[in-house]
Amino acid sequence: MAYPMTMTRRAALAGLTALAAPALIRPRAAFAGTGQAFIQPRLNEGRIEGGRRVFDLTVAPGLHEFRPGIATETIGINATFLGPILSARAGDALRMNVANHIGEPMTLHWHGLHLPAAADGGPHQEIAPGAVWSPEFDLMQKAGTFWFHGHQHEKTGAHVWAGMAGVLRVTDDEEAALPLPRTYGEDDFTLVLQDRRFDADGQMPYTMNMHDRMAGMQGDVLLVNGQTGPVLEVDTPLIRLRILNGANGTFYGLHFADNRTFHQIASDGGLLAEPVPMQGAILSPGERAEFLVDVSDGAAVMLRAETFGAEVAMMGTSGTRDVMEIRPRGVRPTPTLPDRLAEIPPPPDATGEDRRFDLAMTGMGMMGDFTINGRRFDHSRIDFAVPLGTTETWIWTNTTPMLHPMHIHDVQFRILSRNGIPPSAQEAGLKDTVLIRPQETVALRLSFSDYADPVLPYMYHCHILEHEDAGMMGQFTVV
Ligand code: C2O
Ligand code: CU
Ligand code: CU
Repeated sequence: MAYPMTMTRRAALAGLTALAAPALIRPRAAFAGTGQAFIQPRLNEGRIEGGRRVFDLTVAPGLHEFRPGIATETIGINATFLGPILSARAGDALRMNVANHIGEPMTLHWHGLHLPAAADGGPHQEIAPGAVWSPEFDLMQKAGTFWFHGHQHEKTGAHVWAGMAGVLRVTDDEEAALPLPRTYGEDDFTLVLQDRRFDADGQMPYTMNMHDRMAGMQGDVLLVNGQTGPVLEVDTPLIRLRILNGANGTFYGLHFADNRTFHQIASDGGLLAEPVPMQGAILSPGERAEFLVDVSDGAAVMLRAETFGAEVAMMGTSGTRDVMEIRPRGVRPTPTLPDRLAEIPPPPDATGEDRRFDLAMTGMGMMGDFTINGRRFDHSRIDFAVPLGTTETWIWTNTTPMLHPMHIHDVQFRILSRNGIPPSAQEAGLKDTVLIRPQETVALRLSFSDYADPVLPYMYHCHILEHEDAGMMGQFTVV
């Protein structure tokens, strides 16, 4: 199944919902649009100390008011839910001081960053309760939207569900030279999309039923940076939305209520070659995209998400939810978009091995395990070693009836093909997470440079966090 990328929302979802049965989860009214003003989390630029940009991140339990007057137990990073938006420049030397105040072991992983395995924050960089972990590394990225989140062995789902995640906004000279909106909180907004289930007491316990184990945790309340139904008032004709799908197991089919065309300008690892027009975009858990939205007509418009889980081909979507209303203040002349954004060279030639990854389920139907090449994750087993300095081809085949967004640490990779067909424009740039649909074979090209470690591995895994925690993960070293 290949998806043309200039597509309508219906076309985008048609392939996924071809066998749709009635939805299992229906939105409730309780949290319906509160109409509160969109609050952009504060930008945190850290502090400069001895030539390094230093960020102090305290991870601690919190009480967050998702609904006025109701305190929900959470985990936050310098906040009561989620973390700050960190801002840094490509090339910065960073130090992250991560303090664990949650009373149990945790890790904090820098999703999308190219860095030494010892600084990665995966399951091998456990931070004991009360300890501070201070990795130092260079920020070797293009301008883009990255993120960080808990990655404790078998606790990733629970920690992220509670709020252990934040965003890293990277700037560089190439991006700064383009005529794009980039004034934070004025025409450039960061949205962390998640959904949660709340119980009668307003708490969001991480308790999974059988469906959650199979499909990933999904909720009926859609959150934007922890807010429900915010309203964003804007004064500029063109706005930039940097969107992270920070959900545990939910896919979002983003579109506007009036089906207006918008443009994607960046994928996981940075700018695309040129703005790509679309009326709908699917974001899988872990993926980021940046969009330009023309609001010069002055009309209020609702950003919406069709929400669905890994089992969409069997279960259908769980409906369409309002994400955020955008209210322009006044009519403005129509903005022009840049024709070109970034130089995206063709994928590098392979110099190393081809590796195959078979995504499967073992055991009895709904009771089975998710496996990669027939194996579940084993913390003490390195699945393979990649020679430093090589470029490899990784070929993923999904024989399960479910969607799996596969993520690889350390690299920004390129998609070569989906079932033999070259990627669409919006998937032709830098990626670290790629959706693999049932019966699909997706080929990736990855270069392993700069950092080797004979012992400490990087992870590759499904970014449905319940699949990851259940063992749909492997690890490789670069040597
Ligand atoms: Cu976003 Cu291994 O994670
Ligand atoms: Cu990652
Ligand atoms: Cu999966």
